[in-house]
This record gives sequence, C-alpha cells and structure tokens, in this order.
Amino acid sequence: MKGIILAGGLGSRLFPLTKITNKHLLPVYNEPMIYYPMRTLVDAGIREILLVTGGHNAGDFLKLLGNGEAFGLRLLNYAYQVGEGGIADALRLAEPFADGEPVCVILGDNIIEKGIGDIVAKYRKQPDGAHIILKEVPDPNRFGVPAFENGRIVRIEEKPSAPASQFAVIGIYFYDASVFRRIQDLVPSDRGELEITDLNNSYLAEGRLTHSILDGWWTDAGTFESLRVATNLVADTLQKTTASEIPAAVSVTAKA
Ligand code: G1P
Repeated sequence: MKGIILAGGLGSRLFPLTKITNKHLLPVYNEPMIYYPMRTLVDAGIREILLVTGGHNAGDFLKLLGNGEAFGLRLLNYAYQVGEGGIADALRLAEPFADGEPVCVILGDNIIEKGIGDIVAKYRKQPDGAHIILKEVPDPNRFGVPAFENGRIVRIEEKPSAPASQFAVIGIYFYDASVFRRIQDLVPSDRGELEITDLNNSYLAEGRLTHSILDGWWTDAGTFESLRVATNLVADTLQKTTASEIPAAVSVTAKA
C-alpha cells in the first residue's frame, strides 16, 4: 500500500497566516503541521509516500522534508498541483505514483492521537473498494457526515446544515486502483471543487465502502479555532506522555 499526503490549497481560512506560506508548514505546537500526517503514515508501516502540494511555497516542503530522512525514509516523492481544483483533483495527480496499487490518502491538516496501524491491516485484507474512518464530533456540519440506516451508511453529505449523524468522515481514506477512473466521473460541487465526499459516495453506491471508528482524538487544523485545538491537544498529549516517563521520585523533586 502506498501513501499520499494532500498538502495543497490556499489555506484561505487561515489568512493572513497563509499569505506567505503554505498552511501545512505552519506550526502545530512544536512541529510543522506536515510532520503529523507524515508520521501517521510512516508509523503505520507505509514507506512509499507521495506529497502533493502547489502554490508559491511548494519548494519549502523540499527544504523542510528533503527525502524524508527525519522519518526514516530514503526517498520522498513530490507532485505539484496547478490551480485549486479541490481534494479529489489533487489526488488525480497521484495516478502514476500509485501504479495500480491500493493507496492510503491523508489530508495534510489532519492530526490524530493514536495510530492507524490496525485500520491499515484491516484494509489490507479487503480485496477491493474503499474504506473511511469516522469519529464522533460536536460539530459535524463542518465535515463530511455519514447518514445511517440499520447501522449501515446509506450516504455521505458534505458539510450538511442539518447533519444526519454526529460522525465526521475524517481526512484519512483507503482506495483501490479504481479511484482514478472514479475521479474522472466527478463533477465540481457548488464550491467549484471535486469533492472527496462524492468519491466516497461513488464507492458507497456500489456497496464497496467499509468504515472504522477512530480510537483517540482527531482534529483538522485548517481554521483558527481548529489550529488552536490541534496545538492544545498535541501539547497536552506530549505533556502527559513526558510526565508518565519521568520516574515518580524525580517528578516529586521537580515539583518541590
Ligand atoms: C475536507 C472534506 C471533508 C472531511 C474533512 C476532514 O473538508 O471535504 O469531507 O470531513 O476534510 O478534515 P475541508 O478541509 O475541505 O473543509
């Protein structure tokens, strides 16, 4: 399975922070945002990775990530998206890289607490089709939202004003090789983009979409509020991890 990180877009919801840089190069607590999806893929054992980006600051990803050495990689692949055609349009560029293999696609601003190793293993056993990951959230109207009937997903709606469930479809997706043919059949949405939700619905219409529920916290980081939430979640998690690693005697001394 190959990994694809989508890190393009104008980041207009974070303007003026994104006036002179790409959203995914902004800090989330102590690391650039792009480090988190990189680590999500690498920690799940996915080592062939393509980063799709665009805009004026694309070269900065090379300066920051190089060949992916900081993540134990020997090579990192890059693709350049011209214009702003949306998530599914950016994914189109990955067709030669995927070369007929299944792919794990992650949006560059999606940050999770734990790993996706179990879900990757589950999808590897699935002969074909797609797999999405859901997480219960307080504000599903900001995301792709599944509607359920008898415990099965019957449709996914993009940013619905009246969400049919409390679940968000998070920005980590698994697709078989038919994904690129399906993208060709998509039509731009009202916001002028090829929507990943329409892609997922194309699998769903054929009964080829399975799902998992994510364990641990998840957030995107594409708005001021979610960037703040992401920073706090990362900081709190890091603090808890570090605290639990300090032997009791030392931490008592440190407090005194
Ligand atoms: C995108 C997708 C949406 C998904 C979300 C996850 O939203 O369109 O379906 O739930 O990512 O982060 P956007 O970042 O375009 O608002």
